[in-house]
Amino acid sequence: MVVVAVAGGTGHVGRTLVDGLIAGGHDVYVLGRKPSAVFDHLPSVRVLVVSYDDQDDLRKTFEEHKIEIILCTFGAPFPGVFERQIRLIRAAAEADAVKRFAPTEWLVDYEKDDEYASPQEPGEHEVSCRLKIIWKSFQQDTVKELRKHPSIEWTLFHNGYFMDYFGQPYALTYMPSEVPFVDIEACKAAIPGTGEERVVFTHSTDMAKFVSRAIGMKPGSWKEHSWIIGDKVTFHEIVATAEKARGVKFDVAYDPLEKLREGKVTRIPANDAHIAHYSTEKFDATDVILGMFAGLGTAMALGDLDIKEEDALNANFPDIKTVKLVAFIEKYWTGRQPQDPKL
Ligand SMILES: NC(=O)c1ccc[n+]([C@@H]2O[C@H](COP(=O)([O-])OP(=O)(O)OC[C@H]3O[C@@H](n4cnc5c(N)ncnc54)[C@H](OP(=O)(O)O)[C@@H]3O)[C@@H](O)[C@H]2O)c1
Repeated sequence: MVVVAVAGGTGHVGRTLVDGLIAGGHDVYVLGRKPSAVFDHLPSVRVLVVSYDDQDDLRKTFEEHKIEIILCTFGAPFPGVFERQIRLIRAAAEADAVKRFAPTEWLVDYEKDDEYASPQEPGEHEVSCRLKIIWKSFQQDTVKELRKHPSIEWTLFHNGYFMDYFGQPYALTYMPSEVPFVDIEACKAAIPGTGEERVVFTHSTDMAKFVSRAIGMKPGSWKEHSWIIGDKVTFHEIVATAEKARGVKFDVAYDPLEKLREGKVTRIPANDAHIAHYSTEKFDATDVILGMFAGLGTAMALGDLDIKEEDALNANFPDIKTVKLVAFIEKYWTGRQPQDPKL
């Protein structure tokens, strides 16, 4: 049992992690900026209201509650998020109790390849600037900060894209509507690359199972990058499975590497809900979301999400059986009727 705090634990990834950590028998705190009733059904989860702008207060909170590990799940890089995570890291390094830290990530290793580098200037971390992949500079500068604090063991958890999206709107998940590349409801696909590259997709609950086990690993055993592989499939396999389940041929476009590198993707209907989720009255998220898919599509088309099992946490925990994407799509889409109730 580890005393673990999930910063931003009221969010999509955060809630999934909290469930997995509780199931793993850990003592779980959630850090948030305001009181939340989200965990009222889980009395063992304690929500601590903190100011991420007050480093000393954060340190005192970690010491008072003897928090050993902090998992950060801050969402999109809205103004202030980068600086707040840096303060969390510094407060964690100052608190005697804290031994490990995982910064917000939960997707891909943006440092892996300059091919999907974003055009932003170093030090720009927010969605307001001209970005293809918003997290690259964010991740690099976070890692620079972590390297300054040798008392803290850290890792970046990468799980590829969550496969939950391919069950929407019928499969239970905390994830919002961010269906990538293959829109099973609309029977349309915009495949990055040739369709034959293997790509890691992981169900969010499997991600949480691996993290729950990884936080119990012996001190000194964390690598800087911790990959979690739920399944590895090609887009051709995804489309073929979805076509069979729906009983129709999909309208399929291919986005070659050259197009993806220009930050362009073919828009699918599912992108609309994703863009709406992150847009505000003052901010149109279209370029950021489509640019993000172009960046991720580049990584996928380059084969950078074809991770070897022996390089992943899977090698440490072979007993964890993960959800497989073909079976997942078959379960939620075979015989699906338009009038079926959506979640
Ligand atoms: N692999 C995938 O398919 C996938 C999918 C989704 C997300 N992700 C990644 O997972 C990470 C978390 O994403 P998410 O969708 O779970 O995030 P989210 O739900 O949008 O946000 C998580 C929490 O962050 C806190 N937060 C939001 N804005 C903040 C701010 N300005 N300052 C401080 N805290 C703030 C909020 O908690 P409070 O309001 O309680 O403070 C919120 O509940 C991101 O790195 C994202 O890229 C990956």
